[in-house]
Amino acid sequence: NTMTIDKIKDDGFYVQRQSFSIAEVGLINRKIDDYVQQPHPGIVREADARLIRGIHGPHLFDDFFTDLISDPRLLRPAEEFLGERCYVHQFKINMKQRMNGQAWPWHQDFVYWQRGDGIRSPRLLNVALLLSDVDMLQGPLCFIPRSHTLGDLSTVPEKTGDWEQDISKDLTYQIGHRPIERLIAENGVKYMTGQAGDLILFDPLMAHCSSTNLSPHDRALLIVTYNAVSNAPVSDGSIRKRPEFLSARNFVPLAMKTRDYMDTAYCDAEHEIEELVTK
Ligand code: SIN
Ligand code: MN
Repeated sequence: NTMTIDKIKDDGFYVQRQSFSIAEVGLINRKIDDYVQQPHPGIVREADARLIRGIHGPHLFDDFFTDLISDPRLLRPAEEFLGERCYVHQFKINMKQRMNGQAWPWHQDFVYWQRGDGIRSPRLLNVALLLSDVDMLQGPLCFIPRSHTLGDLSTVPEKTGDWEQDISKDLTYQIGHRPIERLIAENGVKYMTGQAGDLILFDPLMAHCSSTNLSPHDRALLIVTYNAVSNAPVSDGSIRKRPEFLSARNFVPLAMKTRDYMDTAYCDAEHEIEELVTK
């Protein structure tokens, strides 16, 4: 609605509490557990090569996640904010596992999609869903309110590596310490703690970070990045192509689902459990 849109435009973010039920979040988490049992492109590990850091592009390989990106609770705010039909540029689940899930330094997202993928304008929206309760010890997402109005704040990277660097704890494009000091002095910081099922909408130019998870609980965060169809990248050949699980190739506008797909998925999941029990 217009209140939500105005909030995102003014502050750079908006939090919608209890958007998904505990049962629905439970189902999503179960689907994630199933998904990582099989090898899939886009599953990325922490530097220790053991813990999963992130799952990228599961909507390309799994029907449940394909349906999820068209859930009205995720897609509708994006369409309203961008004022047109959308497709998903990027879909990731950052696992930030207990005791050791690593940090995300201060950065903005748009620079990656602009320089990495050839998207011209920051007319995208991040829609993030908390898949666990999140407190301060878990390394919540941190925002500097209104920083999205200041354009590209990133410093020239010391080195640009391959796509792996773009999602590592040593991110390619970061915001320098001096600008962060000044921005925080002026605007403060908002911590995106909350409960499983809370939704966080944020602008692609928002300055954000999150620290290491030193708690005994995982902090899984699902982030869908919607792009306006008219803002799809134009390939001029100068852009090195990142893998499809980071940078969409399919720009067909999404068709909004009803929530029925969730019921079907529940039934499937229950059926699977029954089969396991009777085996
Ligand atoms: C991000 O910067 O895209 C995600 C950070 C996080 O998962 O905390
Ligand atoms: Mn980010």
